[in-house]
Amino acid sequence: EKGGHPDFMIKEILEQPRVVRDTLVGRLTGTGELDIDELGLTYEELDLIDRVYVIACGTSYHAGLIANNLIEAWARIPCEVEAASEFRYRNPIITPTTLVVAVSQSGETADTLAAIRDARIKGAKVFGITNVVGSPVARESDGVIYTKANKEIAVASTKSFIGQVVSLTLLALLLAQVKGKMNTRQVKLLFHELGDTAEQIQWIFDTQQEAIHEAALACKDAHSALFVGRGMGAAISYEGALKLKEISYLHAEAYAAGEMKHGPIALIDPGFPVIAVTTKSPVYDKTVSNLKECEARGAKIIAVATEGDEDIKQIADHVIYIPPVRDAFSPITATVPLQLLAREVALMRGCDVDQPRNLAKSVTVE
Ligand code: M6R
Repeated sequence: EKGGHPDFMIKEILEQPRVVRDTLVGRLTGTGELDIDELGLTYEELDLIDRVYVIACGTSYHAGLIANNLIEAWARIPCEVEAASEFRYRNPIITPTTLVVAVSQSGETADTLAAIRDARIKGAKVFGITNVVGSPVARESDGVIYTKANKEIAVASTKSFIGQVVSLTLLALLLAQVKGKMNTRQVKLLFHELGDTAEQIQWIFDTQQEAIHEAALACKDAHSALFVGRGMGAAISYEGALKLKEISYLHAEAYAAGEMKHGPIALIDPGFPVIAVTTKSPVYDKTVSNLKECEARGAKIIAVATEGDEDIKQIADHVIYIPPVRDAFSPITATVPLQLLAREVALMRGCDVDQPRNLAKSVTVE
């Protein structure tokens, strides 16, 4: 069942290039229209959408952080992302032109389900992103995109996250197209670049294992670690920190790098691990300057950087490279080394990476 791999987690991590390809198969028609499983809404209805909430839990929430960036940047629709357990207990502004996007691997997370039921009663349109065909989230949404991760067994989500991010990217492209913010040519270009991330993930597997192993050795005995980044890098950091704490029981927090000086930097003492997402992006220089402040206080810096960036070696103790990629798509590749890092650290600490303590694969009770 594990296909010769020592655990399900690594089997599922290594499947991610396939997940990207399968999630995209058949999604772009010859005329450049995006083809969604069950759109459930007409283009006219989509065009009227003036507010989007992405609601989810855990790793799926982190996929939502990325969607939030893309929907606002590309479709220019105000978008908020919120934990389903919060959303359901407040009184969000919902009208018939509100779109609620529910993201759930299992499609049966209690809080997410309760949130969409409530949102529909209040008149919102609901769109589900799920990995399980016919799951409650799929059944109770107006439209659905199925991630093609196939069954995920390890409690820590890896391949389903990649499927979610790819699917949410499609949704953001669709909204941008319907809203007239992108033409067919632009959509096609981005669609093909999105597909290229499959090979880019494979490149990480083929070339970065040793660097990841060294980085894991550098943080395995720490009591705590900080993950930092800006923009997409911040979203990736949240997911990296969750993965690490969930399977290795090493305390980890993520911060938008610009927040460091507002408190967290007090934690830094010599040897403290700071895992930084410093891929090339419009905020690269800002992130590097935040890292210099950590370096000056003795932090041990592990950077996830863009291949070819030699300068980063001046401040980072360990560098893990990803291939050059458009910032919008960086979460798809840059998250992968953090999944591998978390798994290596967990194994070095003697943890069961597939079945972490206190956690269940699907959280069907509140
Ligand atoms: O099935 P869902 O996507 O709704 O599950 C949400 C979370 O419970 C899940 O992502 C959880 O955080 C994972 N264990 C993270 O690896």
